[in-house]
Amino acid sequence: MNQQDLLQRAERYLPGACLGMMYLPPDLRMVMVRGQGSRIYDANGKEYLDYMLGSGPLLLGHGRPEVVEAVQRQAAAGSTFFALNEPAVRLAEEIVGAVPCGEAIRFQTTGSEATFAALRLARAFTGRDRVLKFEGGWHGGHDVGQLSGTTADPFVYPQSVPDCDGIPQGVQEDVLTGPFNDTATATALIEQHHRELAAVIIEPLQRALKPEPGFLEGLRAVTQQYGIVLVFDEVVTGFRLAWGGAQERYGVVPDLACYGKVIGGGYPLSAVVGKRELLQLADPRQKGRGRYCFLSGTLTGNPVASAAGLAALGVLRQPGVYDRLHALGRRLAEGLCQAGADVGVALQVLGDGPVLQVFFTEYRPLRNHRDLLRADRKAAVAFAHELIRRGVYCTPGGKLYLSLAHSEADLNRTVEIAAEALKVLRRAP
Ligand SMILES: Cc1ncc(COP(=O)(O)O)c(C=O)c1O
Repeated sequence: MNQQDLLQRAERYLPGACLGMMYLPPDLRMVMVRGQGSRIYDANGKEYLDYMLGSGPLLLGHGRPEVVEAVQRQAAAGSTFFALNEPAVRLAEEIVGAVPCGEAIRFQTTGSEATFAALRLARAFTGRDRVLKFEGGWHGGHDVGQLSGTTADPFVYPQSVPDCDGIPQGVQEDVLTGPFNDTATATALIEQHHRELAAVIIEPLQRALKPEPGFLEGLRAVTQQYGIVLVFDEVVTGFRLAWGGAQERYGVVPDLACYGKVIGGGYPLSAVVGKRELLQLADPRQKGRGRYCFLSGTLTGNPVASAAGLAALGVLRQPGVYDRLHALGRRLAEGLCQAGADVGVALQVLGDGPVLQVFFTEYRPLRNHRDLLRADRKAAVAFAHELIRRGVYCTPGGKLYLSLAHSEADLNRTVEIAAEALKVLRRAP
């Protein structure tokens, strides 16, 4: 089937002619057929330099031989058992050993399930219902995840605002929202509501916003004081910013951490990792005997995904890997800033290491979600569309992910293309 046929069928059967939240204007739509290293290819044979990387899982790039070989071996040996299997047990040991808060782990399948699981564990452990999250933070597709993540209009903290329809009023009432990088306000909210709060959940690198010194430390101190479970959502940062994730990079250790994306090596796998006293509530032998928190699923700890994850972590634990990822991130950020200055378009590049995002604004400093709302989002989306048109694939208005497969030459080419795209933006009315 050719690309045009496939696109027409997608238009007929798939809402938005897409698989989820990632959609493109009709003239840019494509069907992907292959990925290799830093590149992907559509059904018309067009090549793209890939900065989406499957929305982040492919930190090693596409088709990394160690991962392909591990998946082929495991797929032939058995694709799923709903039972303990060697890759899952070995991966559990590897992750618990790497993650500073790691004492035990429960696998899940998606990042959303991992954050859902962490919040349920926190409720089961504390006997409290409410959760505090941060405005602009993204924790996935479940009801709590779809609150105050993408708000465009300021509201009064700690109110939560649904990002889509269909969120129950009761869930909205149980979720409080605070401002990122504002220790005083967040601490005051936590102190005021501490008797009801089961958990504080945060992306330690919130989208592309770095935590300011003292902010995560402040959350750690106040949650510890009141026995509230501190959850780091490391679905993006885990094994990406450092071997020990954001906890290692920013030096603050939570009670629970959620992992996804990288740990499955490009296959569906996620996990909640952390203190044994919390994780042991998911022991099924607890049911009927004490506090018990159901966390399981048909494909939980899937052996193919676990084998892929083990192979990916085997590459990531090699010396120099994180230095290289951070050097690539710095190089691309500098190149994009230079391109903006050369073309005369005001932009800033936020992020950390191999996670970057371009914001079109002169306003400084960009510390939280409300600051980011001052940036020109339409320009960011238009910029991405111009990049995609020129063979650089990325999430419109979203993050750029880098991989070990990206070369200096790839980055130089990307910066050249970015300058061309910025010139188009500058000319736009
Ligand atoms: C920080 C964070 N948490 C949770 C999720 C949800 O993961 P998934 O899309 O695998 O459900 C995402 C997805 O992008 C994420 O970025």
